[in-house]
Amino acid sequence: MAKYYINAGNKVSRINKEIYGHFSEHLGRCIYEGLYVGEDSEIPNVNGMRTDVVEALKEIKVPVLRWPGGCFADEYHWKDGIGPKETRKKMINTHWGGVVEDNSFGTHEFMELCRQLGCETYINGNVGSGTVQEMSEWVEYMTFEGVSPMADLRAKNGHPEPWKVDFFGVGNENWGCGGNMTPEYYANLYRRYQTYVRQYSSDKPICKIACGANSGDTDWTQGVLKTLFRNSDPNQHGFANGLSLHYYTVPGPWEHKGSATEFDEKDWYVTLSKALEMENLINKHGAIMDQYDPEKKIGMIVDEWGNWFDVEPGTNPGFLYQQNTMRDALVACLTLNIFNKHSDRVKMACIAQMVNVLQSVILTDGPRMVKTPTWHVFNLFKDHQDTDLVESFIETEMIGGEDTGKVPNLTESASVDADGRLTITIGNLSVADEYPVEAVIAGCDVKKASAQILRGAMNAMNTFDDPDAVRSEEFEVLLTDGGLSFTVPACSVVKITVEE
Ligand code: AHR
Repeated sequence: MAKYYINAGNKVSRINKEIYGHFSEHLGRCIYEGLYVGEDSEIPNVNGMRTDVVEALKEIKVPVLRWPGGCFADEYHWKDGIGPKETRKKMINTHWGGVVEDNSFGTHEFMELCRQLGCETYINGNVGSGTVQEMSEWVEYMTFEGVSPMADLRAKNGHPEPWKVDFFGVGNENWGCGGNMTPEYYANLYRRYQTYVRQYSSDKPICKIACGANSGDTDWTQGVLKTLFRNSDPNQHGFANGLSLHYYTVPGPWEHKGSATEFDEKDWYVTLSKALEMENLINKHGAIMDQYDPEKKIGMIVDEWGNWFDVEPGTNPGFLYQQNTMRDALVACLTLNIFNKHSDRVKMACIAQMVNVLQSVILTDGPRMVKTPTWHVFNLFKDHQDTDLVESFIETEMIGGEDTGKVPNLTESASVDADGRLTITIGNLSVADEYPVEAVIAGCDVKKASAQILRGAMNAMNTFDDPDAVRSEEFEVLLTDGGLSFTVPACSVVKITVEE
């Protein structure tokens, strides 16, 4: 019997809703087909956005959406994507699949998508191949309210009102596809470019995000922060509101990452143990951030994370299309629990990517759509958005083989919302064993509890022919004197809601 202690009265940190964010890039069938089909499509749509996909995304309360990349961002010239669609430039998407990009989805369409989703906007600007003027004019185009060349152009293109840009990324992966820069060089560019990301609206300041490290590259974090903080006013906290971190879970070597669907127990534990590395990375990069920013004013923004497997056989290798199983569900569960636990520093995260690319929450095939196991995890976890993390600890044992990397059998986090409702999310990382749990809950008079579970065999997935093979269902938990008791089945994700 695993003992689980929760002190609902001890609030540890705020879980920003943005931790449950998403990422959409002009990559494969994410934007085109996945999100946007155009006004003339036979697939039901509103202003070109797929109705089925938008409805499914609203259900999981997407809080924020990042766009247009990724590597695409540092090749994107925003003026190509405005104005009458028939005159928009056609170009080759050199990064992703070498296909023609007709720019029919641009700034206006992205803002329309976010309007339909009811989510915040996270625009990623181009430092790698773009100019300061181009970036500055994009911000003016989107957010300036008075008379100005860019605001006039926006009005001419049908949108007199400015939009709200909540977050602005100054470059993407500038250590790699975004220009192969050194940290010091990038940080100097960041200082310069961000100066012209003007705050046109005092009541809606744009949060500026600097490009952070790839995985464990702490030299990058150190080099960037050192340069950002050099001779700068402490009140400007390095000119940044956020510093990104990218980490993908890749079970095998890059040339053979492993199949998304055909894997064995060994692959299962290898994948989960690699996903757990996220916690070490947050600690390592967080420790460097603490040196410069002990008050944690700069958020760690994990704006690309998720599983990266081999593409589905027969699909364009440049489209990064992969299926999604219960293994993805458990990786999502353990990662989101890690983010919750580190919400004092992790202020936003975006899973890569929203539709049809890498660890997607939605897959589409023509007019058909499936919600993946990862979608179901986001659906179970949505009650953590904008709540307070509370103190919790569960007894665990290490499982997995010697040659696979060990993982704890259980992962958890707990939060309390403004009405005092306690949400607990638990994952059982074992493919074979169930675990009885006895939860002792302090700081909350447990009167009522309900629960839902997502479970299945490790390779279980939703397909276009069987879209509901994996779905959540009711789960029984018992009230005890002072808490709860329940048994978590193998390979499952459980959400418990406790009310006083
Ligand atoms: O998500 C796919 C790619 O991974 C992104 O374009 C890039 O930023 C990262 O390397």
